[in-house]
Amino acid sequence: MKLPYAEPYKIKVVEPLRRSTRREREQWITEANHNLFKLRSDQVFIDLLTDSGTGAMSHHQWSEMMLGDESYAGSTSYFKLKEVINDLLGMPLFVPTHQGRAAENVLFSAMVREGDMVPGNAHFDTTKGHIEFRRATAVDCTINEASKTTLYHPFKGNIDLNKLEKVFRSHPKEKIPLCIITVTCNTSGGQPVSMQNIRDVSALCKQYGIPVFFDAARFAENAYFIKMREKEYADHTIPEVVREMFSYVDGATMSCKKDAIVNIGGFLACRDKALFDKISMYCILYEGYLTYGGLAGRDLAAVAQGLKEGCDFFYLESRIEQAAYLGKLLKEYGIAYQEPPGGHAIFVDAKKMLPHIPKEEFQAQTLAVELYLEGGVRAVEIGTLLADRDPCTGENRYPQLELLRLAIPRRVYTNNHIEYVAACLGNIYQRREKITKGFRITKEAPIMRHFTVELERAQ
Ligand code: F0G
Repeated sequence: MKLPYAEPYKIKVVEPLRRSTRREREQWITEANHNLFKLRSDQVFIDLLTDSGTGAMSHHQWSEMMLGDESYAGSTSYFKLKEVINDLLGMPLFVPTHQGRAAENVLFSAMVREGDMVPGNAHFDTTKGHIEFRRATAVDCTINEASKTTLYHPFKGNIDLNKLEKVFRSHPKEKIPLCIITVTCNTSGGQPVSMQNIRDVSALCKQYGIPVFFDAARFAENAYFIKMREKEYADHTIPEVVREMFSYVDGATMSCKKDAIVNIGGFLACRDKALFDKISMYCILYEGYLTYGGLAGRDLAAVAQGLKEGCDFFYLESRIEQAAYLGKLLKEYGIAYQEPPGGHAIFVDAKKMLPHIPKEEFQAQTLAVELYLEGGVRAVEIGTLLADRDPCTGENRYPQLELLRLAIPRRVYTNNHIEYVAACLGNIYQRREKITKGFRITKEAPIMRHFTVELERAQ
């Protein structure tokens, strides 16, 4: 008998969770203007809002925190991190940043200008936000299969080479500062990009003289999928796959809050010395001196350790199998989600769950509120609210996919928690026809509105 996967760690410290009543939750979500970001965390039982910065650090990481060197310049913790970035990722140059979007800010300050086009695979919202803030355009070149939730494709994060080449052909090279490959692709459902696709995109970019960067937040999870789904990598170790992935790109932005399993941190890595000099200036301006970049020395040390742990095969197996387990349970209840399960999350198809709610009433947000009311589970809308309004027309942008993301923090919840979440959604699925009203916006910000939007029940 094949032995089941089991977590390669045991629990040393626990954090109590409080269960609430439905009546309490009704009051709290109304006070929060039906925006789950506005809830207090102690009003939440199981928090699947994000897998970002919410992981449990290992005792090795906590030891590194104690060993952190808080020198302003030349901290030994910086050199620990430098060694891992050089050896594991093969990237020669880097600056630390306080998180992923800070790395984007530094990189795009150096590279992106008004009127530019930045192609990639479904850019994450902060990436798109930073591009649009500079009056440039993020062009989504993801393969069409990514928008069909029930269709199986092993690498739904892949970039369509024809779409990418079309961008390259229809704009002068000077207008395309870089191409971004997000591994795994969060927006299309935590879906991986194949090594073949990374290689092909890199070759095409080289042909047109366009630099290619990773948004590397979940690079280790992507490497796991390559090992499991791309035959020629079956016998490679995760670090070998990682090293090859990075060999095809000119640089990377990294949110360490994901696959480096820390609560805060990021970095920006590159190969080109001239670009490094440019980003150094912006790093000092926005983040801090080059050897700390907005982080404490102890954070740098924890990142260095976390990057190594994040590439452990058995850790990755238990993590990704946990997401798959949630997917399996939801399927048994008849609930549709982006298939196959993603690395860090399950993305429930809200259009299929609540087809009778008009898209103008935010189907995925309606489901998010319902899930909170049902069992105190917090998830996040990846749909019309997140897509913002078109900056030119001011109209709502209705994305092809209207999803509810259940993001699983690293090393935090047990499979009993997962079963609880699935049961909540199962109950909602059974009574879905009784949910007849969505929401309307009463207040919103012009960009990244989902964080602060206020909503009331549609009449
Ligand atoms: N890129 C990707 C693919 C991300 O998922 C995120 C963050 C970022 C960049 C920005 O990194 O948060 O460190 O500034 N994603 C979080 C999420 C917020 O919930 O998916 P950050």
